[in-house]
Parts: sequence; C-alpha cells; structure tokens
Amino acid sequence: MSEAKEIFLKDYQQPNFWIKETQLTIDLTKPQTRVTAKLKFFKNNNTSERSLFLNGEGPILDSISLNGVEVGDNLFEKKDDGLYFGNIDQDTFELTIVNFINPNENYSGQGLYKSGNIYCTQCEAEGFRKITYYLDRPDVMASFKTKLIAAKDKFPYLLSNGNKVESGDLEGGNHYAVWEDPHKKPSYLFACVFGDLAVVKDEFVTKSGKKVDLEIYVDHGNEAKCEHAMRSLKNAMKWDEETYNLEYDLDIYMIVAVDTFNAGAMENKGLNIFNSAYVLATPKLAVDKDFQNIEGVIGHEYFHNWTGNRVTCRDWFQLTLKEGLTVYRDQEFSSDMLDRSVKRIEDVIGLKSHQFPEDDGPLSHPIQPKSFVEIDNFYTSTVYEKGAEVIRMIETIIGKENFKKGLELYFKRFDGQAVTTDDFVSSMSDASGVDLSHFKLWYDQNGTPKIKVNISYDQTNSIVELSLEQENLKLNNDKFDCLYLPFSMKFYNENGAPIESMKGHENFIFKNKKQSIKFEGVNERVIPSLNCNFSAPVKVDYDYKKEELATLMAHDEDLMNRYDASQRLIELEIKELKKSFENKEASKLSDLFLKAYKTLLLDKSLTYSFRANALSIPTIFELNKRNDFYDFDSLPMAVDFLNEQLAIELESELNLIISNLGKEVAYDISPEEMGKRAFKNFCLSLYAQTTSPAALDLVYANFQRANNMTDELGALKTLSHINSPYREKALESFYANWKHEPLVFEKWVRVKAGSRVSSLSETKDIMKLEAFDLKVPNLIRALCGGFISGSPLVFHDPSGVGYEFIADRVIELDKDNPNIAAGICKNLNFLKRVDSTRQAKLKDQLNRILNEAKSANVIEIAKRNLEN
Ligand code: TRP
Ligand code: ZN
Repeated sequence: MSEAKEIFLKDYQQPNFWIKETQLTIDLTKPQTRVTAKLKFFKNNNTSERSLFLNGEGPILDSISLNGVEVGDNLFEKKDDGLYFGNIDQDTFELTIVNFINPNENYSGQGLYKSGNIYCTQCEAEGFRKITYYLDRPDVMASFKTKLIAAKDKFPYLLSNGNKVESGDLEGGNHYAVWEDPHKKPSYLFACVFGDLAVVKDEFVTKSGKKVDLEIYVDHGNEAKCEHAMRSLKNAMKWDEETYNLEYDLDIYMIVAVDTFNAGAMENKGLNIFNSAYVLATPKLAVDKDFQNIEGVIGHEYFHNWTGNRVTCRDWFQLTLKEGLTVYRDQEFSSDMLDRSVKRIEDVIGLKSHQFPEDDGPLSHPIQPKSFVEIDNFYTSTVYEKGAEVIRMIETIIGKENFKKGLELYFKRFDGQAVTTDDFVSSMSDASGVDLSHFKLWYDQNGTPKIKVNISYDQTNSIVELSLEQENLKLNNDKFDCLYLPFSMKFYNENGAPIESMKGHENFIFKNKKQSIKFEGVNERVIPSLNCNFSAPVKVDYDYKKEELATLMAHDEDLMNRYDASQRLIELEIKELKKSFENKEASKLSDLFLKAYKTLLLDKSLTYSFRANALSIPTIFELNKRNDFYDFDSLPMAVDFLNEQLAIELESELNLIISNLGKEVAYDISPEEMGKRAFKNFCLSLYAQTTSPAALDLVYANFQRANNMTDELGALKTLSHINSPYREKALESFYANWKHEPLVFEKWVRVKAGSRVSSLSETKDIMKLEAFDLKVPNLIRALCGGFISGSPLVFHDPSGVGYEFIADRVIELDKDNPNIAAGICKNLNFLKRVDSTRQAKLKDQLNRILNEAKSANVIEIAKRNLEN
C-alpha cells in the first residue's frame, strides 16, 4: 500500500516560478505519442526560493533543454511524481521538454486517452501531468499555443482551445493544425481532440454584435441527435447576457461528445468535452429527464466560461468557488427555461438524497475541505450542490439586485486571476454593504445542521411562543457558536388559512444559537410552514401531527413545503406500518392519510409534475439512507404494503387518470407535456402495485405502444420489479431493440441491475453481454448504481455476496480507472448502519479492497469507510 500524502489548505504557497507561455506539440503519427513542451518561466518575486518542481505522472522523458541547450540530470532529479530542479538561478528562462506517452493504454479517463476512435483529453483536476511535465496547478496561468499532428485520413479534425491560426498537410499522409488561445489559463483547462467526426454547425450573435461559430462534434450518424443540445447552448448564451450581462469571448465555441468519459462534461476553454449522454437526444432515445439534464449540463459548462475560466481557482480547496457558483447559475437558467417551482423542488430532492447522506457519512466535509489526499474524491455533491445552496443563501440575504452587483464587482476585481472563496464573498459583501463575516462559516462547516422548532400556546392570554434552536453544528471555528442563515417561515391555522397577525417572517434571518419569538393575540392553533422554498440547506425538526401535515399538503402556498408535507406524511405512515409489522399487529392505512393522498392526487389546481413529485413513495434505499440504522425486514414490508394498499384503494382513480393522459399526442418537451408523462407513468407504476392481471396488461400495453423513450422506459421499469411473464418479455425485447444504441443500452443495464427481483447471477450476467464494456464509465455506473439503489435486499444479503460483487468491481477498476473505482467505493459507506453480521461482511470487503487496490483514490475512500 503506497503512503499517499494528505494535503492541507493552510499549507498553500505560491510557486517559485510562474509560466508565461506554453507551446505544446503533440505528435500522434508514431506508435509512441511524442509531446514537446516549450515553457517560458519567470520568477515569482514574492519569494526568494529558486527550486522548481514540475508534476509529471507517466510521461517518459526524452530530453530537457534550458534556453535551447540540452541539459543532463545534474540540473534536475527525476522522481515518481515529477521533476525536481534544486536551483535555477535565472529569473526568466525557457525549458523545452520532450517526452513520450501512450494514450492507447490509458484507460484512466485523464490525460490524453482514447474514446472509441477519438483521442481526447481530460485535464481537470490533475490530468495535464499525464501529458507532460508542468506546474500542474490552477494558479499558474499561461497563454497556450498548441500544434497537433496526426494522420489526415484517420483524424481529419485536430482541435484545441482558442482559434485555429494555421493548418496544412505534411508528408506521409499526415497533417497538422496550430491553435492559439488568447486567454491565459491554468493547465486543467487545456484540451485537444483528434478524430474522425461529424460536425453540426450553427452560430450565435452576441449582444455587442459579434458572430460566434457554434460547433458540436459527434460520431458519424449522430448528427440528428444534436438539436436539443444546440438549442440549449444558444439559450444559455442568451440567458447569460440577459441575466448577468456576460458575453462570450472567443470566435468559436466547440463541443465534442465522447462515449468514454469520467464525469458529465468539461469546460475546457472554447473546447468543451462532453459525455455523449449530455449531448445526444431524440424523443425515441432519451427520456424527458435526459432533455432537462442536457440543458442543465450544456448551461453549466457554458457558464463556467466566466465562473471558472475567466476567474478561476487559486488551489483545489477553492473548488466550490467555481462549482457551487456554476451549479447555482445552471439551476437558475433551467428554472427560467422550465417551471421554476418544480425545478426548485427537484433540486432539493437531489440535495437531500445525495448530499445529506454524504454529509452524514464517513466522507462528510465542508464545501471548502481543509485537507484531502486525492482531489478527484472531492468532486462531490457537497462541493457542487451544497455549494450552490450557499450561493443561493447569499442571494437571499443580500437580495437579487445586490447579488448581480456583487458578481459584477467580482469580475471587475478578479478577471484573469486565480482566486479564493474569500475573494468571492468579499465582493458580495462590498457590493451590498452587508457584513457576511458570520455567514462565511458555511464554507468551513460540515454535517447537516438541524433546526429544532417548538411552539407553545398560552391559550388564556392568546400568546404563541415560537422557539428555534440550531443543532448538530460542526462549525470548525472559535468565534461563533452558531450559523447565520435565512429561515423563511409562514404560519397557518387549522383550516389552512395564513394567520395574518403572524406574517412578517418570510425573510427571517436566524443568527443565534437559540431564539424565541412571541406572538400576541393569536386565538387559534398554529401550523408552521418552515424553511419555505428551502431557504437554507438544513433539516427541520418539528413534531408535526398527521392532521397538520394533511392541512399543509392541501393548502400551503409554498409549494416546496406542500411537497415536503406530503413526503413527511408518507414517511410517518410508513413508520406506523413498520411498527405494526414489528409488533405483529394488523396493518391498515389510516383514513387520514388515504384521504390526504387522494385529495392531492386529484387536485387539478396543481401541476402534473408537482403531483408526481409530491406523491412519489420513497424507496427502501432512500428511506434507509435517511435513517441511522438500515432495516431490511419490517421497512420493506411496510413500503410494499403501503404501495399495494394505495394501489388497491385508488384503483379506479388511477385508471381514469391513466386513460385520460394516455391519449396519443405529438411528443413535445414543454414543461406541461413532460409533467403529463411523469404523472401518467407515476400513476401507472402505482397502479401496477396491485399486481392484478388487468394492471400488468395495461402496463405492458403502454410499453408496447410507447412512441417515446420516456413512456417506454417508464413502463419497462415498472414491469422489471414485478415477477410476471411480461417482465422477461419486456426486458428481452427492449434489449434486442436497443443494444446497439450505447445510451439506451445503458438505461437497460440500470433497469435490469436495479430490478428488485433480479438475482445476483442475473446481474452478473449483464457483464457478459457483448454490448457491455467495463471500460465505459457510464455502463459501470449504471450496473453498480442500479444494483445498489434498486436491489437493496440482494446488495445487503447477509451472506455478503452483494458487497463482494461491488468490491470486485472496485478492485478490477482500480487498475485502469481509479477515479471511477473510488466513485463506486464511496457506496460502501454504511459500516455503522448495519447489523453485526453485515458489518463483518462489509469490513472483510473493505479490507480486501485496501489490500488489493493501489490507487490513492480508492485507498482514501476505503480507509474512511472503514474508520467511520
Ligand atoms: N469541471 C467539470 C464540471 O463540473 C467536472 C469534471 C469533468 C471532472 N471531468 C472531470 C471532475 C474529471 C473530475 C474528474 O463541469
Ligand atoms: Zn462544473
């Protein structure tokens, strides 16, 4: 086991030298790819130190020249992770480094690698050091000039950042292109692509009248699948101009879609590289959620051009500076394109189901971590999604207009620089005049804070006292004893009408550890609606009675809390059923629950997508993640019982909705039509829980006649969980129809591995299919993610075979792609939450991983999972 180094934020130091200019030549014409880097250095005058360490992992060094003269290893020392120059006595100098790399055997998804027949790069966070030796850190910003050389027939397109300034033919059927990026950038934003691709072109005229060429590069045959991505890009460009006055700054914006990609997409300057899942879509191939995700990710990468590229991060501890802010921006963009309140609810659902459990487990960390071993492990839901919530709170506290002024000031002060989260917050506070020093604790705090709320009545004097307390704080500071947060509140009476005399706390700021508020002249019982629109990323602890939740569920003006009331009521009902199963008592749905649920189901004043979200029944996987202790006995019984009883009780209503919404209409991705499909498919899946022949016939009929992937996959998912002849038939025909479409095959893998009635051997067999490729991260994630979330009883089988299956994948992947292996390993994070039998089995597997895995990525995660 290699001893990986832990790196600390407090140890940040500027480098001793900066790089002004980087000239890169990548020659792909020989069996060994040859890289020449000509680097112009200059002294950092803030330090007198004269040593220089260039990161390099994997490049095979050929030669180094200093100012044009080749030097031997008396000047430098070659180490495992780079080149060390003990003393360079010149203030400005030029190093020319020649090295070889082998992209054909690079399966890590970092550096220069092969995806299908395309050679492409991924340099964030520390991939550039796999291409050549460099000061591979984000605070070193240089201008880049890149020359690419390759065979003309196999690689007609040679792409890199910026503008193409030269190109031409060479001997032997080769050709070259030279690209120059006028903007200084850190190495993580470098990109190049060699490929035989199809290109879809369009253009955008910026608000100042500059024409920008838009080009999306895809595999031949996929040209017709780019329409939505292109439209999303143009919408994003327009939105950023209209919302923040931010204009694009190059003549060309390129997107290249590749099938083998570790993450969603990458914001390389002028040359984004995308996981093809976030580019390609047609109604037949992609579900509504895919269309939404494409819009979101296209927006996200485009918005990085200002929040990330023009102003970048000083070091990787500042990752949330660009990611939290850019997620906030893409969420706002999508809100303006779609239905704002539903988008907000869906973002909060995502945060609660990913970030909350992460923050409650062994990898819990502040949005600005204090230390890490491997930065790849910190591209987390916390840094991204909680980071976006922190930005949103700033916007709430200082107001929308001040927030815009703050961003403007941020760009004015820091354009072209690599900065810190402090620099961002000070721009916000200087522009608004609001002191944010207490608020800044959010950057260092980990764990999800809990707001404990109590209401007491003094009926004789008509006084209501509301008391609030901040709990579960891990503040990591010694100046403040609590957080500063917006905590929006509204109050209703038992009829669901707002209580006039209690208004005025919609913009409440909660900045004390404890606080109580007295309301006089209140003669009715009060139902609080707390943390409206999820004003702060906290848990709210209030002891709601079922009647109160039913009232909020029917009347709360805040849709977020109306959703929340419904989900709380469902969870309460499941808890009660669970208890009755544990006590071996007769189980029955409560009339109150049934009535409230039915009322919401039929409430035409609410949108379809709202109802689909609010009425969804949490899965065993989701419920377990919310609890301290995983339950595989009475909890599954309770969830199944609830589903089945609801289906039986609401059979005729569901039937009616399904037939009303099932009429064939032209496919359209408007929020209204997407909502209809979501609601119909939800009702269909609930109806199927009766498992009656009529219900299964109907689902299968829907599967067969679907004219779009949303309906087809929705029906397939429903059938996949229920043992019936239709299950096999549907899974088989879907596979036969779609195995040649990588992105649809991936969906099939997720459904099949995530079917609660699949056996482990069935899941293992997926890996034997011809279409399955372990080297494609999307497929691995579909297999493992589907299995873990959809098939919890097999995954957590007390024999440990499920844990072993996942551990096998981690160990196997570790050799090729540590980044993805560590991502899979993150799922084994529940040691404290299972019984001793399962604990022992999980421990065995984590120890096996520690013994067999080599990468710092996996070791860091496995260790944490074992320790906590
Ligand atoms: N910066 C990218 C984004 O958020 C994230 C990313 C792309 C990434 N590729 C990666 C992170 C590889 C880690 C490793 O848009
Ligand atoms: Zn990002």
